[in-house]
Amino acid sequence: MGISRHGPRRGPLRGRGRVRGPVSRRGVLAGAVGPMLAGPARAAQGPGLGGLAAARGIVFGTALTRGEAEASPALARIAGAEAALIVPGNEFKWPAHRPSAEGFDFRDADFMMRFAEEHRKPARGHALVWHGALPAWFEGAPRDAAGMRAMLERHIRTVAGRYAGRMQSWDVVNEPVEPWYRRADGLRETPFLAALGPGYIDLAFRLAHEADPAARLVLNEYGLEMANEDNAARRAAILALLRGMLARGVPVHALGIQGHLAAAARDFDAGVLRRFIREVAALGLEVLVTELDVTDRGLPPDIPARDAAVARMLRAFLDAALAEPSVRMVVVWGLTDRFTWMNDSRYARREDGLPVRGHLLDEALRPKPAWHAVADAFRAAPQR
Ligand code: XIL
Repeated sequence: MGISRHGPRRGPLRGRGRVRGPVSRRGVLAGAVGPMLAGPARAAQGPGLGGLAAARGIVFGTALTRGEAEASPALARIAGAEAALIVPGNEFKWPAHRPSAEGFDFRDADFMMRFAEEHRKPARGHALVWHGALPAWFEGAPRDAAGMRAMLERHIRTVAGRYAGRMQSWDVVNEPVEPWYRRADGLRETPFLAALGPGYIDLAFRLAHEADPAARLVLNEYGLEMANEDNAARRAAILALLRGMLARGVPVHALGIQGHLAAAARDFDAGVLRRFIREVAALGLEVLVTELDVTDRGLPPDIPARDAAVARMLRAFLDAALAEPSVRMVVVWGLTDRFTWMNDSRYARREDGLPVRGHLLDEALRPKPAWHAVADAFRAAPQR
């Protein structure tokens, strides 16, 4: 089974007004975070994951938030050393830079862009349109077509325009598909869809392209990798959506496969994933892995067993994905178990309350079997 953490049970405005970094800056200032870790093991003595990936023509990146970088300078150093690309984890979501319907506040976004640029790394923007993180004021925002259109225009022009030429790529629309709604097109019912119909997706991509013609524009989605009915419906909806967009001349350049995996899942099938990636590539699109991590929900508490299962899942997924030459970027959704969204997600967190061990480094930033699995997958990947 895949994780269907964004199931509609939470309603279309799930989590609005609350893009909480795992560590808020207030928490850090208040000393709520434990002592800084002294001299954590460097994840890599050799070239690091970024170097191993680059040797095969693959870009390895990580999500990182300002809260994480400030709470753990050691993590910031490792991210700077290991990753070849940075994705600000929350700073480009509406609650982070849209304090009001009129206003923008780019302090955290600018902080993360500076971080990337000082480390000479490209950045990806995540995300211009996402139903999953909307500020509280959004509820009072216009719901008619003209009002919604004006709001999207202003948002995308301002945000993508401000960073034009500095973003390697943008997740223009995040998670547009949700078969649970039983629409023929498989689209998720969001306030954007309600106001503008399916055309909101085309509109967002056209606006993003106008505002930043150099950025690669990505449609980003989860639940695309497993061999089950739910994921098959998501794949079909995404393929239909991409085909339609291309037929209408919409500037879409890539599909982002989030890659939130579950180590307990029994239904991974490399052939199914590879076939899907080939179908997307046949449309002339790139395929990126944009948010790789693995929940160990459903596995017994034993740590070595969990770590081994997470590593196996990562290796199986990456071996399949990287066998396809259209996959040239792998981004993990955080490097360390110390900061993970999965403990806060009702779909990804463990039922026994133990912290999820789903990233490459443990809470003390030491490499786990998962780190080595990713390193080995890069070493084994065919050359691009
Ligand atoms: C998560 C962040 O990691 C958390 O810090 C935040 O509280 C909620 O969002 N899919 C996505 C990401 O597209 O934006 C989500 O990030 C994780 C799931």
